[in-house]
Formats: sequence, C-alpha cells, structure tokens
Amino acid sequence: MRILFLGDLVGRSGRDAVTAALPNLRRSLHLDLVVVNAENASHGFGLAPEMARALLAAGADAITLGNHAWDRREIIPFIEQEPRLLRPLNYPPGTPGRGAAVVDLAGGRRALVMNAMGRLFMDPLDDPFRGVQQAIAAHRMGQGGTVAAMVLDFHAEASSEKLAMGHSFDGKLSLVVGTHTHVPSADHQILPGGTAYMTDAGMCGDYDSVIGMEKGGASLRFWKKVPGERLAPAEGEATISGVFVETDDATGLARRIAPLRMGGRLSPAMPAV
Ligand code: FE2
Repeated sequence: MRILFLGDLVGRSGRDAVTAALPNLRRSLHLDLVVVNAENASHGFGLAPEMARALLAAGADAITLGNHAWDRREIIPFIEQEPRLLRPLNYPPGTPGRGAAVVDLAGGRRALVMNAMGRLFMDPLDDPFRGVQQAIAAHRMGQGGTVAAMVLDFHAEASSEKLAMGHSFDGKLSLVVGTHTHVPSADHQILPGGTAYMTDAGMCGDYDSVIGMEKGGASLRFWKKVPGERLAPAEGEATISGVFVETDDATGLARRIAPLRMGGRLSPAMPAV
C-alpha cells in the first residue's frame, strides 16, 4: 500500500496548493491512502467545514486536527457527521467526534487512521500513549487482519515525546508521523521493528514566514510584550511538505519511507515511483 501524509496546511496558500496538487499526486505516486493535517487551514486557526469537504473531494481519505481543532466552531456539528475527520483521541471523554477511524479505500481495503496530541508544552490532555494502545487493541494489521495499514498523526511540540511514541508502537503501526512544529525533520526512517517514522512532516504553507504566519507581526511578538495586530497567514507560494510510505501488504509494516516537498521555497524532494 502506498501512503501519503501531508503536514499542517496553513491558510489559503497551503489549502490551494494541496487541493490543486492532490489529484495529480494520487495518480503519479499510485497512492492508496492520503491523510492530511488541516487544523490551521482556516486563516491559520481551525478548519471550516467547506474546506474539509474540498480536501476530501480533492483526494484526501482522512483529515486530522490538533490543538486548533475547535477554533472554527462550525466544525463541532460537522465532525459528528463526518467519520473521515479526526480530532486527537486523547481529548476527555464526551468530546465531539472521534480520534480514530477505519477508512474504506479503493479495492476494498481498509486502514486505521489515528490522531493524538502530545502533552509536553501543550494543553494537558489524557495520556496519548494509552489512548493509542486502546485504539489499536481491536485491530490486526496485514493479510487476514482487520486493516491493511495503521497510521498515527501525533500532533506534538517535543521531538522527545514523538520519538517515544514512535518507538512505543514500533512493529505495531505502519507509520507514526509528527505534526504541529510546521518544520519538516530530516529523520524519516524505518524503525527496527518495521514502523515508518518521521518526527515532523512539516507544513504545507509559505515558508517565508514564522511557521506559516506573516513574519513581521509574528516576529514582533518576541520583541514586545503588548498585544499587537492579529496574526495572519503568509500568502506566498506554499511548499507542500509531507512523507510517503510504502508498506508490505502481508504485514502492514513499512518497506520504504521518503520525504515529499514540492513548490515554494524548500528544496524539492519527490519519492521515486
Ligand atoms: Fe498545532
């Protein structure tokens, strides 16, 4: 199975780049499963339902969120009706929506997609490690299993917490990929047990910015401690940034991992087909 995960879409620049490129990427990379993190899609904060619909129509099989999950309140009734939209699974019980979903793919295959949020330097939620353990308990991956692949988007600030998550589920998941820092890491690898891992997928947005936001206002926040103008997303050409993984259908584990970067300011990287 071929999987593409794209990091946090930021604002119009990120949204437009991804919706324009995704249909071609699906074809050229022969993708079976596409997951995108879109918690910053709506002007940098949250995700509006019409944007979620556009991403699904462009070829995303599932959308993940994070600490900005509820910034656009219209998403709350929408998430109850859209099983392909996930918020972190370690929000307290009773939170709208779900953090794990089995997604139906072309050819009758299915994949388990999960979203969890870290607790270091972030809002303290429930334990994400035990949360993931519970979410996968009923599943077995690979031939004869319940799903062909399992993917976790771990939305977290600290690289240590992300690495600990990767190693904790090495051999159990197809891919553990981090989001939230908006900077792609260069440590994409297949862990010893066969799980593909990357500390951060980076963002899909304008990299002439401070993590996707207009650089002037965002820099000023570090110089002055009085409230300034509201942060707005940078509007230059986006780099689409993410990670490509090929799994072994027999086991669901990774055979290959490669970064994907296209457009904008970052050096390009395209997985070989
Ligand atoms: Fe975030």
